[in-house]
Amino acid sequence: MRPEADADPHWVSALAGCSLTAAVRRLEEARAERRLFSHLARAHGREGRASYIEIDAPLELYALVRELRPAHVVEVGVSSGVSTAYLLEALRRNRRGVLHSVDRPTFATSAHRPRASWSLPPGREPGWAIPSGLREGWDLRVGDKAELLPQLAAELPQIDLLLYDVPHDDAGTFGEFLSLDPRLRRGGVAIADHGPGGSLCGALARWARRTESKPVGRTGLGLYGFAKHRLHSKATRRPHRGAPGSRSSSREVQRP
Ligand SMILES: C[S@@+](CC[C@H](N)C(=O)[O-])C[C@H]1O[C@@H](n2cnc3c(N)ncnc32)[C@H](O)[C@@H]1O
Repeated sequence: MRPEADADPHWVSALAGCSLTAAVRRLEEARAERRLFSHLARAHGREGRASYIEIDAPLELYALVRELRPAHVVEVGVSSGVSTAYLLEALRRNRRGVLHSVDRPTFATSAHRPRASWSLPPGREPGWAIPSGLREGWDLRVGDKAELLPQLAAELPQIDLLLYDVPHDDAGTFGEFLSLDPRLRRGGVAIADHGPGGSLCGALARWARRTESKPVGRTGLGLYGFAKHRLHSKATRRPHRGAPGSRSSSREVQRP
């Protein structure tokens, strides 16, 4: 596991609707969580694999939770628990909010022979690398997203932040986002990962149009964020990378 070197304050600021200064401060706070990083890196090392597939922008997740101060966060895709641990740590610092995570695990046949890059080591549960001190109050639901997301949508009063870090196909994804949509509050943020350098999938481009949420891509990653009903916020009209005076590394995606 490597520390994230190129965290993007512009992406955080565009999605949270906060100033760039606030986003930079939150990312510095996340980077200072060295004990959390060391714990995760040691836990991975002990399992005999250098890395598991994990979110490439854990610091931004932390920063978003600190800025949005969510009551309910929904995460799909836990694996060893890197994204989960950063979300939980930020909620702990906020002293409010619950993380609801969904995962249908795949198991490795042996420690050195993973079936998928996220397969759990034999005998482990989703989120096995998360420090025990962060687990209290964590709502982990084991099963298929297609079944569990509509259940969560029926149970939760609102969703403030959604992280969708799971392999997905168009038909299922659009239906799942539609089922969550009535709970995702105005200004709430959804983030979906499309793998390294992946482009925005058709399902989420459609969902973004429907909910008037401008997709903002994190440069270099297949991560796209959407702030619901904030198509024209000031934060998303920042200068493009390369424009004079701009340090922006986020991408605004042309809506199809
Ligand atoms: C890319 S990994 C998640 C990485 C994690 N967010 C992190 O930062 O470490 C994808 C996860 O999705 C889970 N998954 C795959 N298909 C699923 C499904 N249909 N429903 C729920 N979870 C699923 C896998 O078990 C795996 O843990």
